[in-house]
Amino acid sequence: MKIKKDIPLIDQHDKNGFWGGKFGGNFIPETLKKPVEDLTVLFEKLRRDKKFIKERDYYFKNWVGSPTSFVKLENLTKSLGGAQIWTKIVSEANGGAHKIYNATVHCLIAKRAGKKYIVGDTGAGYAGKMLSMAAKKFGLKCKIFMGAKDIKRQKPNCDAMKKNGAEIVPVYTGSQTLVDAVSECMRYWVSNCDTTHMCVGSTVGPNIFVKICGWSTSQISRELFIQIKKEFGSIPKKIKLLNCVGGGSSSFGFWNEFMHYNKKQIEFVGVEAGGPKQSKKHAAPLTYGSKIGILHGASQYVIMSPEGQIEETESISAGLDYPGVSPLHCFLKDAKRARYTAATDEEALSAYMLVTKFENLNPSLEPSHAFAEAIKLAPKLSKDTVIIVNSCGDAHKDKDILKQRLGI
Ligand SMILES: Cc1ncc(COP(=O)(O)O)c(C=O)c1O
Repeated sequence: MKIKKDIPLIDQHDKNGFWGGKFGGNFIPETLKKPVEDLTVLFEKLRRDKKFIKERDYYFKNWVGSPTSFVKLENLTKSLGGAQIWTKIVSEANGGAHKIYNATVHCLIAKRAGKKYIVGDTGAGYAGKMLSMAAKKFGLKCKIFMGAKDIKRQKPNCDAMKKNGAEIVPVYTGSQTLVDAVSECMRYWVSNCDTTHMCVGSTVGPNIFVKICGWSTSQISRELFIQIKKEFGSIPKKIKLLNCVGGGSSSFGFWNEFMHYNKKQIEFVGVEAGGPKQSKKHAAPLTYGSKIGILHGASQYVIMSPEGQIEETESISAGLDYPGVSPLHCFLKDAKRARYTAATDEEALSAYMLVTKFENLNPSLEPSHAFAEAIKLAPKLSKDTVIIVNSCGDAHKDKDILKQRLGI
């Protein structure tokens, strides 16, 4: 499997929508064929429309708050020794996480499509919170599907959704987490697609949803590319871009602009959720090996039983607690452009403690997984290596879990 240098990765799928010939596609019911086709035609037109790009950039700058900061974590670097640790504080974006980019673009598309209603899924609650914010901003009525387990563990984001006027639909099926929320949301869209636009909260789902999300979150690496050049004068010789991976939207957005660099110069490291240390369950399909299966309209690596049943996952982080992963990441893994590893719940909590001890940063449990890998790597690497962690979410949403597990 090879990545082409001159074509955006989101466009490197075949005519049937598969990346690398096997990941992605459109495994959808007959009734969705037309709405998905219409959305594809509309998006492909809009992304080439200068007026639409101008509108997107206007809202990214004046409403989302782009660019977010790029800073060196000097105290953490000094305490660990070895490589420099930097971070892009994407949690500075309006609402506290990267999910705002995808939500904003989806609402702009929904407006162009003449839709008055928008629905979305959420795990950690950020995709839901951001969609409720954008829906309010752009005058759309919003419904969010969320697993009942996640509603309990991410209360601050649920409060925000309600405050923004969104209806939260609790999902009681299956593991009552993100995987079930996405399924229910898609089911709802099947019967309401005439009036309603659907926003899939990550780079997952049928081909076009992967593309829209990846196109939107790529704002992160567009900013980072400029910031690195400004800070270092040129692109340094040894960079490692560390990002947590759930569905894969923040990591894809963090890496996209650097795709054509040699991996020896710019390595991509995706950190999945290893789950509790003592448990066999995890949410790391790319790290611990999994088979290719169909989930949420696309083929991808999925954690499943030998008979093909989707297995329950477990992670302290609701945002990473997902059995599948974006077809874009499956492609990046098989093309050997990105390396994937996992951090356990305990490692993420320790990383959170260490980062907050040394720095004025409050990374949520999802990016704390990436910080755990940075903490492992840095002491083994030379001072001229630049580790950059995407701090893609704020821990305000995790305050109940942090109190329970760490007493803080
Ligand atoms: C803060 C944060 N980071 C990461 C993730 C994982 O999703 P993705 O891999 O799509 O970025 C989530 C998902 O909810 C999240 O809220």
